[in-house]
Amino acid sequence: MIIAQENSYKPNVNPPTEFILIVDDNTTNLSILKEALKTIGLRVRLAVDGESAIKQAKQELPMLILLDVEMPGINGFETCTLLKADPLTQDIPIIFMTALSDTANKVKGLSLGAVDYITKPFEKEEVLARVNVQLKVRELNKSLAEKNTRLLELTEDLEQKVAERTAALQKAQIQLVQQEKLSMLGQLVAGVAHEINNPIGCITSNIAPAQEYVKSLSTALKLYQKYCPEVPEIQQELEEIDIEFVLEDLPKLLDSMQLSTQRIKDISISLRNFSRLDTDTKVLANLHLGLDSTLVILRHRLKAISNRPEIKIIQEYSKLPEVKCSPGQINQVFMNLIANSIDALEEKFEILGNQFQPIIKIITEQPDKKRIVIRIIDNGKGMSEEIKQQIFQPLFTTKPVSKGTGLGLSIAQQIIVDKHGGQLSFNSVPKQGTEFIIELPLGEESLVNSH
Ligand SMILES: Nc1ncnc2c1ncn2[C@@H]1O[C@H](COP(=O)(O)OP(=O)(O)O)[C@@H](O)[C@H]1O
Ligand SMILES: [Mg+2]
Repeated sequence: MIIAQENSYKPNVNPPTEFILIVDDNTTNLSILKEALKTIGLRVRLAVDGESAIKQAKQELPMLILLDVEMPGINGFETCTLLKADPLTQDIPIIFMTALSDTANKVKGLSLGAVDYITKPFEKEEVLARVNVQLKVRELNKSLAEKNTRLLELTEDLEQKVAERTAALQKAQIQLVQQEKLSMLGQLVAGVAHEINNPIGCITSNIAPAQEYVKSLSTALKLYQKYCPEVPEIQQELEEIDIEFVLEDLPKLLDSMQLSTQRIKDISISLRNFSRLDTDTKVLANLHLGLDSTLVILRHRLKAISNRPEIKIIQEYSKLPEVKCSPGQINQVFMNLIANSIDALEEKFEILGNQFQPIIKIITEQPDKKRIVIRIIDNGKGMSEEIKQQIFQPLFTTKPVSKGTGLGLSIAQQIIVDKHGGQLSFNSVPKQGTEFIIELPLGEESLVNSH
């Protein structure tokens, strides 16, 4: 067998503990082999019988065993069988040493799991060549195993990345769908708000003349009563309809109708403000208008219901410049945050009952030239540490399915942080309340106007 030199095993790179175990009852054989292996720099340990070989191998694993077949006590085959039966030693490659003519033994050795055989009397070159081949095979196996491990790690890594990507995609998709819905809803609301504008305009502009006409008619009636009192049919009719009361009540009625139409008009304007169909293009906007519109739209949820008192709104607005932003999106954030506060207040009220006065405080301020801050504070039920960790995760909700989508805050975060380069943070104490803080950066454009 010819082994190319560069292919041969290079013992120097191995840790000092690596050694070959030679097992032979013939000490002459042992020393011949030992010397031969030493010439190529291999470390060697010796054993003179099967039992001590197994013991040694278990104490410290040899990288290769040269095993004599014929030995007193347990012979080489039995030794080999025992080594192969033990998981600790089963992977050690074994080379049998057997007489030149002994074909049956060679076959048997290989069938027991030996990797090769060496024939006696020893040819030094052959021994070294066969040992070299086995050590090389062992090296290759080792590096293959390392590569396998690495491959496994890479696969796990890849699987994790795929899972992360999938989650991110899912998140993006949910938000897209949600935004799609919002923008459809926005268009619808803006359309309705526009549609009711004309009829409301008609009512508002007609109320004033109607009030005038009522005045004129009542003057005319009074004149009739004064100058034609003797017509009994008229007198009877006027008494029946209680004309005094009608004349007194009609102007009041018209006044209250005027107030109500004004309110419808406010709501319609708020709806339009709120649902401003902005894409990602930004305009200078007055955020106080946005906050007020949001409050108008949420008014039905703030009002007193059955036994719950009205939710008190405290507005502490500072002078703010217009902010370059997508107002519809920012209003969406106000809506999500204030609606969450209302939910938290309602849940607390359910526990505490009438002794609890629910409050939402909205503070706006401009701490410096570069940013504005909006705080939405409630004295609601607050959040536990565990909940705090999760609130920005899409689909996380503590509310029943009919109420919560778990998307409000993740959308708010996306709008404030990703779309506007701002910050959304919060403080919350269980049972005490919660504060959400929106911070928006101010651009050059904002320096001119203040509200
Ligand atoms: N002001 C708040 N007070 C108490 N808990 C809050 C408040 N805002 C948000 N949370 C908690 O964060 C969760 C996620 O909020 P959100 O993303 O808006 O989804 P949803 O309101 O649909 O549950 C809520 O279910 C609630 O547990
Ligand atoms: Mg919400």
